[in-house]
Amino acid sequence: MTRVIIDCDPGHDDAIALMLAHRHAQVLGISTVSGNAPLAATTANALMVTALLDVDTPVHAGAARPLAGEPRHALVVHGQSGLDGVERADHRRTVASDDAVEFLLDAPDRDVWIIALGPLTNLALAIERDPAWVRRIAGISIMGGSATVGNTTRVAEFNIFADPEAAARVFLAGADLTMCGLNLTHQLRTTDAIVSRLRQAANPRAKFAAELFDYLHGRMADLIGVREAALHDPCAVLAVTHPQLIETEPRAVDIELEGTLTRGMTVVDQRSTRRQDPANARVAYRIDAGRAMDLVLECMD
Ligand code: BDR
Ligand code: CA
Repeated sequence: MTRVIIDCDPGHDDAIALMLAHRHAQVLGISTVSGNAPLAATTANALMVTALLDVDTPVHAGAARPLAGEPRHALVVHGQSGLDGVERADHRRTVASDDAVEFLLDAPDRDVWIIALGPLTNLALAIERDPAWVRRIAGISIMGGSATVGNTTRVAEFNIFADPEAAARVFLAGADLTMCGLNLTHQLRTTDAIVSRLRQAANPRAKFAAELFDYLHGRMADLIGVREAALHDPCAVLAVTHPQLIETEPRAVDIELEGTLTRGMTVVDQRSTRRQDPANARVAYRIDAGRAMDLVLECMD
């Protein structure tokens, strides 16, 4: 089974990604980062998901703030707790450590994938401590960025916008890197029909997912006028566990750090000439959304 470490900021779609990863990979650990909500909330949510799944995956708390500037959160989507709208599982779990960076650096050997579902602060700090780390791991699958439009600004996606300096370091570190940006993740969407189907199933995971999607659909109805939600983070899990479902192209990707309108943009070289800059990432363009949604729903059985 593929071995992975999940760096995340749960987050509704992070929670679904954690469920999916525990079904299809050996999850060696979870590291948390400030993102959708402050670090204390994303860490509490990660612990709660491990309780729901009844797994003993260690949770390591990481960075509480980006490399530069103030923390940014997505409370408008995920609520004050980062995971509003779900009944919280009762548990007494605590973190394995407060040093996610050390945990990442200890990744045992070359076959471990890092799946990054939040701002890239922890990964950038790991690279700063040990630039050779990226050559000791199999690769990094990132939910972040976009080869088209943004969601936090016109051109920037939330995870990159929340810590562009960290993202720039990670994209330039020489890792085997897959970018699952908004151009991909908007192809995998949940609907109210899925909520109804999950409500028929009598198990705690399906109930949790039904509440979670229902809440997200309500937020999306308010924000964009459609009761549907893109399942961003599960795409980056599937890029590792089921790469045959996702089509990628090698591309040069740089992070814009200066622009007043474009800070946090993933600038992807998509020129059709032969003179493209050398690729540093595999950019994901297409997902088999039908099969991917089957896998998402199966992990709630
Ligand atoms: C990303 O931002 C967060 O709100 C989601 O969890 C996802 O990782 C989408 O832009
Ligand atoms: Ca996330």
